[in-house]
Amino acid sequence: MQEKFYLTTAIDYVNGEPHIGHAYEKILSDVIIRHKRQIIDNAFMLTGTDEHGIKIQKTAASKGITPKELCDENFSKFEAAWKELEISYDKIIRTTDLQHTKTVKKIFSKLLENGDIYKHSYTGLYCSGCESFLSPKDLTEDGLCPDHMKKPEEITEENYFFKLTKYKDKIAEYIKSHPEFIQPSSRVNELLNQLENIEDISVSRTKSSVQWGIDVDGDESQTIYVWIDALSNYITAIGYDIDNPDEQFKKLWPADVHVIGKDIIKFHSIYWIAILMSLGLPLPKTIYAHGWITIDQSKMSKSIGNVIAPHDVLMAFNLDKPDAFRYYMASAALIGKDGNYSDEDFKEKVNADLANNIGNLLNRTLNMLVKYFDGEIKNEFITDKTSKIAILAENTKTQIIEAFNKYEIAEASNLIVSFADFVNKYVTETAPWSLAKEGKMLETGKVLYNVLEAMRHIAILLYPYCPNISADILTQLSQNTDFKYTNLVWGKLQAGKITEKDKIKPVFLRLDSEFATDKKKG
Ligand code: MSP
Repeated sequence: MQEKFYLTTAIDYVNGEPHIGHAYEKILSDVIIRHKRQIIDNAFMLTGTDEHGIKIQKTAASKGITPKELCDENFSKFEAAWKELEISYDKIIRTTDLQHTKTVKKIFSKLLENGDIYKHSYTGLYCSGCESFLSPKDLTEDGLCPDHMKKPEEITEENYFFKLTKYKDKIAEYIKSHPEFIQPSSRVNELLNQLENIEDISVSRTKSSVQWGIDVDGDESQTIYVWIDALSNYITAIGYDIDNPDEQFKKLWPADVHVIGKDIIKFHSIYWIAILMSLGLPLPKTIYAHGWITIDQSKMSKSIGNVIAPHDVLMAFNLDKPDAFRYYMASAALIGKDGNYSDEDFKEKVNADLANNIGNLLNRTLNMLVKYFDGEIKNEFITDKTSKIAILAENTKTQIIEAFNKYEIAEASNLIVSFADFVNKYVTETAPWSLAKEGKMLETGKVLYNVLEAMRHIAILLYPYCPNISADILTQLSQNTDFKYTNLVWGKLQAGKITEKDKIKPVFLRLDSEFATDKKKG
């Protein structure tokens, strides 16, 4: 059995507030980590905020506040958003944390000592949106950054440079020989092409242009490049230190997966890997690049005015738990593909899957159990693991584990829905109400048992996506809320009275469209 699982998310820039694109990544990550915790004991999730750099410096200046004030204000908003969405991270790091800044200085000095950093005078085009120099061939015809549609600034400075070219072949070799390293693998070619043309990168900025950053040790005229600072969070947060790393670091590193958006794959699969190679540290197992969330099919942007905060979605639909939104986001796109958010889709998807398919099934079946058997499962109703439905439950579990191992999170949720579809069809075909009418009570009881035992399985499988709904399903079945996969054994639903008429409650109510729309307008 695998002993540990260490997952990290990208750390968000705090020049703005959390939106549903940030939320998408944190939800995907949380679904993965909750799934791992169902199987192993030591699963650790790290998230955080990226707080240095010119972008933050400029935003703070434009608001007339200090960069630290801006960071504190927005950090609290990210923290609150993740709490509301029940993101169960083990640690949240801020790159302004003292421990982090101290270690980043040491990392930089170590790279210098290793001969991988040198000083060089340079003229380049800097995009503050990307916090990166761009080459003229990266730009649009009008000379704009294609991601931010802004003209990069021409900068001439003497900076420190990192010898990326020294690691180029080694990285290409690593990518080619480790098929699990880049997920989805459709991104491999694009990366190998980027590697072909890679140059050494500037890893510091002069203090006169960027003050809001970590100073280079021994050269206070320079601040450390924000991406070196930011990427290092994956090791500083768990206690990395050049000479004396923490026990936690020894236990958790290397990361099993860095979950990031497709826009920052180069920084993770090239820059970060070269730094780790220079430090002599083991490399992460997988870089999982998810796609983008668009709104009504267009890119979210402040200038279009279509940026949506996750809190607004919960408010608009009057949701006091995040389950529906988590479920929708986590199943919004197949691996690596872009997904779209629209109020209409959200409503339709969660009404269909959570309210109708799963919720109604449980409700109807419990009502039949009350009607025909006074809410009691009798010993003779319990079916064994050779029944068709039990076999399907077992297969679904196996396929879900495989899907999660490949980071196919939406695909895994589809497997749960297909299983629930099957159970619904099974109820229609076996028609327990007719069996009962005909007085075939043993057969009726067995059908109800099969459905309720399937529901218990569904609750456990659905847990990473919808922790509250899953807990409610198990509570409705009078089961304790232990979501470990060891409970996915057919027949664990025991004989006994499990419900009464007035205890049956819907686990998920359909979203009321008119209400939602009215509230949003208000
Ligand atoms: N600070 C850097 C990451 C440093 S990681 C060492 C950064 N920050 S960000 O705030 O711009 O983005 C944070 C994460 O959110 C990234 O993985 C990014 O891809 C993701 N997303 C930002 N907007 C998004 C969407 N609209 N949709 C999906 N994910 C998006 O990049």
